[in-house]
Amino acid sequence: MEVINRYITIKNHVDGAPQDSDFELRSSPLSLSLDPASHEVIVKNLYVSIDPYQLNRMKSYSSSQQRSNYAVAITPGEDIDTYAVGKVVASGNPKFVKGDLVAGLLKWGDFTVVKPGGMLNKLDPMGFPLSYHVGILGFSGLTAYAGFFEICKPKKGEKVFVSAALGSVGNLVGQFAKALGCYVIGSAGSKEKVALLKEKLGFDGAFNYREETDLKSTLQRYFPDGIDIYFDNVGGDMQEAAVSNMNINGRIAVCGVISEYTGGEKRAAPSMMDVIYKRLKIQGFLAGDHMNLFGDFLSTTCDHLRSGKIQPLEDISDGVESIPSALINLFRGQNIGKKIVRIAEE
Ligand SMILES: NC(=O)c1ccc[n+]([C@@H]2O[C@H](COP(=O)([O-])OP(=O)(O)OC[C@H]3O[C@@H](n4cnc5c(N)ncnc54)[C@H](OP(=O)(O)O)[C@@H]3O)[C@@H](O)[C@H]2O)c1
Repeated sequence: MEVINRYITIKNHVDGAPQDSDFELRSSPLSLSLDPASHEVIVKNLYVSIDPYQLNRMKSYSSSQQRSNYAVAITPGEDIDTYAVGKVVASGNPKFVKGDLVAGLLKWGDFTVVKPGGMLNKLDPMGFPLSYHVGILGFSGLTAYAGFFEICKPKKGEKVFVSAALGSVGNLVGQFAKALGCYVIGSAGSKEKVALLKEKLGFDGAFNYREETDLKSTLQRYFPDGIDIYFDNVGGDMQEAAVSNMNINGRIAVCGVISEYTGGEKRAAPSMMDVIYKRLKIQGFLAGDHMNLFGDFLSTTCDHLRSGKIQPLEDISDGVESIPSALINLFRGQNIGKKIVRIAEE
């Protein structure tokens, strides 16, 4: 049997903010019959992740492209891989059979042909919607969990600041911190997001950074006794303001610097005198280096979800053709929680 496989590609390298005109929907015929000796698996993609780092892969140059197997450069015209959930439709690999639910590195398209050695695991949904396994129970969740618990080493009662706090990673960091008994403040880019942080997710406070003219004094207002932990998703001015408000022995997990990805805004230049005299620990990290925590992360997060201690926050759009706008909108702050595209129903 043959199907038409539609997929998204870039027409050119993308060095500024992404635009519709940078993307193209292509299609090609795909045979669903496999040679059993091929060890390949054909997966029908169901839910695909939309993540800011993909933009860095699309640039003509980004230092990230050489540093991680997941962040390698995307060649214009080629299909694009992403973390996703799908269903096996044909298998030449004895580990998988038709009908298996799987999670792994799939494509921004209708189908993925997973080559031998590709990242693919059987998925037990454990009673949760499949989309959760792309976000809150997938890599975004692991990022929040590893970054907060492993890098920041939080203690109950500590004062925590999270930027891009209503985003996929940020909202979970804040919810993990609240569940531990920390004081948590988040920043986000709209009134609606600020209200959700306080009213739906139980943050102790939140502010719209777009309305603030002096971020250092804003943070002083929210943290009169200083910040113990800053979970940085944005870089730029916010990182500088956070460093100047950190307490002695404070920890900063640099998860991402999204304000710097589109090239237009200034890079963070935090005061190194503050870093030295306050004995700050500033650490970048990659979730993929913390797979050893996946089991702990999954059981903790599932327990919190079942008890209602943390809320899932998803923003789902439909169809392969909606992938470009889903990515573009991350850089315009138009997502509420984890951005996912549903390619097909199970
Ligand atoms: N280290 C890792 O392993 C790892 C893994 C996953 C993600 N990350 C990083 O973590 C960060 C969050 O990723 P995510 O997947 O959770 O995305 P997300 O927060 O769900 O979406 C991006 C959000 O960033 C904010 N934003 C966009 N442009 C901005 C700007 N110029 N200044 C300030 N905020 C801006 C927007 O929210 P507002 O409305 O608040 O502006 C937008 O909703 C990103 O930097 C990403 O690269 C790192």
